Amino acid sequence: MSNSDFELTGQTALITGAGRGIGLATARRLAAAGADVIIAEYIVENGEQAAAEIESMGRKSMFIEVDVRDSGSVNRMAEVALAAFPRIDILVCNAGIAQGIPAEECSDEDWLNMMAVNLNGVFWCCRAIGRHMLERGSGVIVNTASMSGMIANTPQPQAHYNAAKAGVILLTKSLAGEWADRGLRVNCVSPGYIGTDMTAEGMSNMDWYPTWLAMTPQGRVGEPEDVAAAIYYLASPAAKFTTGSNLVVDGGYTSW
Ligand SMILES: NC(=O)c1ccc[n+]([C@@H]2O[C@H](COP(=O)([O-])OP(=O)(O)OC[C@H]3O[C@@H](n4cnc5c(N)ncnc54)[C@H](O)[C@@H]3O)[C@@H](O)[C@H]2O)c1
Repeated sequence: MSNSDFELTGQTALITGAGRGIGLATARRLAAAGADVIIAEYIVENGEQAAAEIESMGRKSMFIEVDVRDSGSVNRMAEVALAAFPRIDILVCNAGIAQGIPAEECSDEDWLNMMAVNLNGVFWCCRAIGRHMLERGSGVIVNTASMSGMIANTPQPQAHYNAAKAGVILLTKSLAGEWADRGLRVNCVSPGYIGTDMTAEGMSNMDWYPTWLAMTPQGRVGEPEDVAAAIYYLASPAAKFTTGSNLVVDGGYTSW
């Protein structure tokens, strides 16, 4: 083991949902380790800003507008990325949405949209970029799952979110098994509560936030950088024997 196990110079990463939050922190983290970073994002302004920031760090970057719900949009993202960069070494499937809604009030549209972003979107990206990695015989994929894929959160009702994230964990393990002998590693991270735009509403809801803190042994929410560090580890050569794993970053939430 040496520091070079954490070196990403010469590698290219593509990160979805990298315009803000955990995705942006991951873009910064991988760029700081030497990687060029493609920002794939739904919100154009955030995506453009993130790509400019990565370039200001002295790395190559580009913004690609994508809606991960749409496999055509994801396939175009892969084409555009591979026209601009010779290869993609690291894929981080991070784009996601959350919604608190009681199951009995969850409409078809609510359910399908949740699955479309948080589960279908991960698969479309893994498939599109995975095909390219398989052709080359190497590549690393890290998916952003959630502790919600292992436990049902309380007090907020979010059955569709939990179900989608559980799907991401098993999708990750399935792809890891299918692709391990062809040079690919596929892992996921499972964050607990992290302070981002996604959780801002919950953190100001006094019916929810005190419960979140009370159920987290560390008694606080995490920072996007905490998750970015875990993604960085899994993406790095230091994790070369790790595939099909789910690295939990939750301040101890799932240990109780
Ligand atoms: N914040 C938390 O507490 C927490 C906990 C567990 C898991 N996660 C997961 O971490 C990931 C990042 O979440 P975050 O907290 O940084 O939230 P965030 O809302 O700050 O970032 C999510 C990003 O995904 C993008 N996105 C949403 N829908 C998209 C689509 N259809 N196509 C392309 N991009 C899209 C958004 O524009 C945004 O930039 C998500 O998958 C989320 O479910 C977050």
